Amino acid sequence: MIGIGSDHGGVTLKEAIKEFLNQNGYEFKDYGTQKDVPMDYPDIAETVARAVVSGECDKGILICGTGIGVSIAANKIDGIRAAHVTDVFSAKMAKEHNDAQIICLGERITGPGLALEIVKAYLESEHLGGRHQRRVDKIMALERKRD
Ligand code: RB5
Repeated sequence: MIGIGSDHGGVTLKEAIKEFLNQNGYEFKDYGTQKDVPMDYPDIAETVARAVVSGECDKGILICGTGIGVSIAANKIDGIRAAHVTDVFSAKMAKEHNDAQIICLGERITGPGLALEIVKAYLESEHLGGRHQRRVDKIMALERKRD
């Protein structure tokens, strides 16, 4: 199950991604916002991130104007690795190396054609484990080292 959400600055790209997910047989849940309904990006980022941490969703896709706000906010939720991506290679690496459960996109930065290629690359990639898992474990250990 893929959780998808955006603020008002990402709602058009969210609809395009939902169409792609539908056409390609992916199961998803849309957490909002809807067209013409303003939403602060930390709120939608928290909702989707918590859905991933709880196991309600396996992966998440977050969109705002730049992708920056939702990525900063989602990474504040313990257990989350959210990757802000603007290219296909990074989307693949975000899964293979970083085991990111969420990717973050910017509607004002990345056009719909590239955005769909990014989503496809991310969803079709698998975490490689091994030395990459050791590094992911070190990222997560940072949560226990907070002052
Ligand atoms: C909203 O206007 C805008 O600030 C937001 O979508 C995003 O770009 C923040 O990072």
